This record gives sequence, C-alpha cells and structure tokens, in this order.
Amino acid sequence: MAIFGAPVAHEDDPERAVRAALAIREELAADGDLEVHIGVTTGEALITLDARIEKGEHTASGDSVNTAARLEAAAPAGSIFVDEATRRATERSIEFDDAPPVVAKGKSDPIRVWDAVRPRTPVAGRRASDTPLVGRERELTLLRGTVDRVQREREPQLLTLVGVPGIGKTRLVSELARDLDRRGDWLWLEGRSLPYGEGATFWAFCEIVRAFTGVLDSDRDERATRKVHDAVAAIVPEPSEVAWLERHLRPLVGIDTDDLGSGDRRGEAFAAWRRLLEALAEEQPLVLVFDDLHWADDALLDFVDHVVDWASGVPILVLATARPDLLDRRPGWGGGRANATAIRLSPLSLEETATLFGALFDESTAPRGVHDDLLERAGGNPFYAEEFARMVLDGLGDGGLPGSVQGLIAARLDGLALDEKELLQNAAVVGRVFWTGPLGDDRPRLDEALHALARREFVRRERRSSIAGETEYSFRHTLIRDVAYEQIPKARRAEKHLAAAGWIESLSRREDYAEMLSWHYLRAVEYAGADGVVSEELVERIVRALRDAGDRALSLHAYPLAAGFYERAIALQPDGAPGPGRELLLALGDALARAGDQERARETFLTAAELARRSGSAEHLARAALGYGGRFVWSRAWGDPHLVPLLEEAWRCRAIRTRPARPPVGPAGRGPVAGHASNRAARGDERRGVANGAATGRPRRAGVRARGPALREHGPANGRSAPGDRR
Ligand SMILES: Nc1ncnc2c1ncn2[C@@H]1O[C@H](COP(=O)(O)OP(=O)(O)OP(=O)(O)O)[C@@H](O)[C@H]1O
Ligand SMILES: [Mg+2]
Repeated sequence: MAIFGAPVAHEDDPERAVRAALAIREELAADGDLEVHIGVTTGEALITLDARIEKGEHTASGDSVNTAARLEAAAPAGSIFVDEATRRATERSIEFDDAPPVVAKGKSDPIRVWDAVRPRTPVAGRRASDTPLVGRERELTLLRGTVDRVQREREPQLLTLVGVPGIGKTRLVSELARDLDRRGDWLWLEGRSLPYGEGATFWAFCEIVRAFTGVLDSDRDERATRKVHDAVAAIVPEPSEVAWLERHLRPLVGIDTDDLGSGDRRGEAFAAWRRLLEALAEEQPLVLVFDDLHWADDALLDFVDHVVDWASGVPILVLATARPDLLDRRPGWGGGRANATAIRLSPLSLEETATLFGALFDESTAPRGVHDDLLERAGGNPFYAEEFARMVLDGLGDGGLPGSVQGLIAARLDGLALDEKELLQNAAVVGRVFWTGPLGDDRPRLDEALHALARREFVRRERRSSIAGETEYSFRHTLIRDVAYEQIPKARRAEKHLAAAGWIESLSRREDYAEMLSWHYLRAVEYAGADGVVSEELVERIVRALRDAGDRALSLHAYPLAAGFYERAIALQPDGAPGPGRELLLALGDALARAGDQERARETFLTAAELARRSGSAEHLARAALGYGGRFVWSRAWGDPHLVPLLEEAWRCRAIRTRPARPPVGPAGRGPVAGHASNRAARGDERRGVANGAATGRPRRAGVRARGPALREHGPANGRSAPGDRR
C-alpha cells in the first residue's frame, strides 16, 4: 500500500497517486511478466507515523483504506480502479473509462468506480476555466501599461503577481496572453515550476527553451541537437557564438545534462542563456512567463534575477506569478530595483463574487438560497467559488468543503514549519478572530510568528482590538481556520477549548464575551466525548456562561438567539436542579414569547409552573403564571384551560397579592408581565409593578429584586440564596 498526503499533504495528492499507478502499470507492462491490479481511493484515514509494520501494525486505517483494498481486489488485471472522490479530484488531468460498480462486503450500496486510462497532460496543472473574467480591471490595465512601457523603452521589466492559491494569478496572465496574441507583435514564451521539489532544477526555463527550440520529449538526442542548432543559428549570426550557446542550451533540453549550470560554470551558463534571450528580444519584444515561481529552485530564482539585472537595451517583460511564500524565501523579490514591481492580488469583492457565481450557475441550475452562503464561504477566491459551484452542480449538496479546496489549504498549512502550524491550529480553536492572549505568554515571539504568518497571507492583524490590551488577529479566510481546526486530533480539541475558555474567564469583563465563552465550553464537552469526564463544576460554569449569553442576546433584542442559549443551558442542567432550572425556564419562556413563539412560550411557562409547584417556590409560580398569562391577557383568551387556574393558584399562595394590574402599565403599552424589559434593571422595575406590596421576604442583595420589594418565597426554606441573587 502506498499513502499519499501523509505526513505532509500536497494539493494534488490524488493526482500523484493516480499518476504513480499509471507509471507502475506502464513499467510492469514493459517487463511483461507480472500482472497488476490497482485500487485508488481518496479520503480521511487515521495515520500512524511510527507504526511497526513488521509487527503487523497498520500505518493507515479507515474506510478509504478498506475501500481501496476492495477496489484492488475487484480490478481486472491491468486495471486501475478509482473511487468517485479520486475521479472528481483528478478528472481534469486524467482520462477515465466507466467501469461497472463494485459490490463490496460491508457496504450497503455498490461502489461506483472508474478505470484510469492515461494522463491528459504530462505534468500536473490546473486547467483554466472558461468563465468570463470578473473584475481585475485595474490589474489588467497595469499589465497592459507595463507591456507598452517595455516596448517603448526597450528595457527589461520584472512584474510579479503575488497572491494566495486560486486567487487568479495565472488567469490574469492568460488574459494578457490573449491580448498580445491578438496584437501579434510579441513573442510569448512560458514555463511553469513544479511542486515536486529538487531534481527539477531550472524546470520552468527548460520548458521555455523547449518551446523556443521545438524539442519534444520524444526526440532522440541527434534530433534534439539539430533542433537546438537550427533555432539558435536562426537568431545569432556569429558561428562561434552559436556553438557556445548550443553548448549551454543542450542540457536544458535533456542532452549532456551533467553540464546543467552547476558550480563555477553557472556564471557562464547564465550569460549564455541571457544572451539567447537578448537575441530573441532584439528581433521581437519578448514576454517570459514564469508561473508558480514559489516552487522554483533557488538556481532558477537567481537566473530570473540575473536576466532582469543584466539584460539591457532589449524589450523583455519577465512576468512571474507566485504565492506569498516566495516573499518569505526572498523578502526582497520584486523590490529594491527600479525595473521590478510586484502586484498583490486581493480577493474579489462580494459583488464580483456574486457575478462569478451568476456565471458559474446558469440561473436554472442555481438552487435557491445557495448563493448567499456560498458567497460567504468562497470569500472572494475564484477557485473556491468554482469548486463550490461544481460541488453543487454535481448534486453533492452545498454543505461540505470540496476535496480540492480542502487539499489546497491543507497543503498550504503543511508547508509551514511545525511550530507555525501549531500556532495556527491553536488560533483556529479561538476562532476566525483571535487574540494573542490564549496562545502563549511570550508576546514578542508570538507577535513575530504571527507577523510572518500575516506576510504569507494566512492571518491579518487588525488595527483595533475588541479586547483591551490584546492584539487582535483574524484568519484571512474562514476556510483556512476550518481546515487548520480539522487537523487538530479530536481528542486534543477539548483541552484546547478549555484553555481558551479559561483565558476568557480571566478577562475583566467576561460577561461581554459570554457567547464566546459558552461556545468554547460546549465544544469542549462535545470533544471530551463519551469517556471524557465532565465535572459538575464545569457544567455549572457552562450553564452560567450560556445564561449570560442568553441575557446578553435578550438585551440586544436577539430573542430567538437568546432562547437558543437558555434552551441549551436547560438541557445541560442535571435533573432536579432546583433554582437555576426555574430561572432559566422563566427566561426561556420570556425569550420565546418575545420571539413570537407563543405556543412554546406557554408550554415553557407551564413546565416552569410545575417545577415551582414541586419545589414550593411561590415566587417562581407567580412569575410562571404571569408569564403564561401575559400575552393572553392582551388577547383576552380567558377561555384557556390553564390560565385562570394558574393565576388563581398563584394568588392563593399569596405570591400575587394585588389585583393583576390593569393593562397597560409599562411604557410603550407593555402589559404587566414579568420580564418584558430589555435589561435586567428594567425587568426589576416591571416585576416590582407586578408584585406590588408583597414585601415580606428576606432582603435581597442584587439583581432584579434589588430595586424594589421582593416577592415572597414560600415553601420549605432552602437555606441557599435564590439563584437570582447570584447574578
Ligand atoms: N477574475 C476572475 N474571474 C473569473 N474567473 C477567475 C478569475 N480569477 C480566477 N478565475 C478562475 O479561478 C480559477 C483559479 O484561478 P488561477 O488558476 O488563476 O489561480 P492562481 O492564483 O494562479 O492559483 P495558484 O496559486 O494555485 O496557481 C481558474 O479557473 C480561473 O479561471
Ligand atoms: Mg496559478
């Protein structure tokens, strides 16, 4: 078994796997002795990096591993069966034939499979889509302006387009190519660096030389040698110079490769190659494109630098595209020289992304309501937008993350140093927006590390922080946060969320962050899993955080949200917890009533009344009765079977001493119903109105009752302070 993507993910792991399978088949076919059956699947697996295979331990386990074994068993000799996820990830660069579905043990449905036939392109690459170009007018204008300037001034220029994967660098280059193609007066030569690392020295430049000399992969040495000679002789008149150039070009097309500009001969090779480019540009203005320069080897970067620095008196535009990592490797790239510029591509605006989605979905296929959510998740990245659209159009729903996007981001994260990656993961636990506080104590070091991550466009430092004394950062893209978070083993998430919660608890105004706090606590409980022990104290904290979050939402008039918080808090209450449960139920009833969900509000008040009855709390009974009656009093629905008995009952136990006040009492025509104010203080006022004159209870310290006579607490005196007091 071969595993691609572990321990380090690449954005094209599925493609690498299928290409490897094709290469294996080809090699074995050449030998002719062995039959080969191959199965390839793509998905999540649990990887054990230090598994002792000789002791029968597995390096990988999971459903995709089992499925791969089934496909391999089902594949006829010489076939490479792949599953749907693999086909989707690779269909743009690999050709497949249909194959009959495979019925496998342990699977209810047959597995859909395809048979890999051959690669469509010799090396991996993203095929550009044909959706119309959206936005980017300014960038194109700048590109065209540079072209004109190079032609006019006849001096080399370096222009580097920098941006995160999928933002549209290559697309812009091809827009310019189309322009110049129409004009017809420029020579366009392009090469691309590959992500396969060493061993592909000068690869992109090799492609350029091949393109110009017309040498093909399949050419034998003599033929290639002749092509190089002819191409050079056509542009350089001097025979001795032709011979010199040929000698230095041959290694680039795969002949005499020992000479490939190594060691002290490099200076001479650079001079020869540059001379060739100058000779070309003398005939016709030249655009040299270096795509994906972030993957280039140092030698190639040096050469590009050399050309821009040394060539003179000729119109050469060196156009490069690179992800921000390049600037990490070469901080001075594209700067510090008069003839070099870098353009940073930022995400498309919301409107532009919407236009792009409009083009991707023709209106009849766009599922209703899909746009808004996708718009947000695409975050202005055209590649993400395309992949999300493809997922929806293929009928795979709109909830997930396309494998291609996940792979792309995972590969970016895996390209980071281990401590940087861990820092991002910890930040991802805090959220899309995060602060340095929960990430560690060594502030200067943290700031430095985050600054480096900001340069590589993973995060952004915000100018203002919403937490005093804390530097605020945010992930540049939600999906980066999501994927970083997903990479944290589930077992470790709980402790990380607890740490984040602990940090929030330590803030001076923690109530303001109650929502965030409860979120962390809930995640912690979720990931603590079945065997994770959740202490009583923790539950108490969570309930408190949820209640605070509910109160906060209520005060901001976000009633359904508030109801949600209270509901979750109630669900966490241990059975039979007396005080807080009643308070929460009353708060929930109130929030539901305000949210307009009268039916559930009444149900909740009835439950609250029942609980109050059982624990003998007259105060709560009264509040439940009034809550229940509140809206009814207005609609005069006296026929309700519960209303009158409930009010009577409350009255009997003297929780309500006065006649229910005549509505309307409060401002804005509010009725005499408990808990109708938008903040606690006001709520206290209203309750005072309700419980007018019932001041026989013990003195209260704070909260709703602090501002007026309190409701009497009947029943078995429970030596504890009332829950409301704790607020
Ligand atoms: N402005 C745009 N309007 C419409 N489609 C776009 C635009 N920009 C990019 N695209 C499309 O989005 C996809 C990704 O763009 P592109 O390949 O140029 O990204 P990139 O920045 O080169 O990414 P990488 O760093 O991975 O090479 C392509 O299919 C491209 O056609
Ligand atoms: Mg590109």
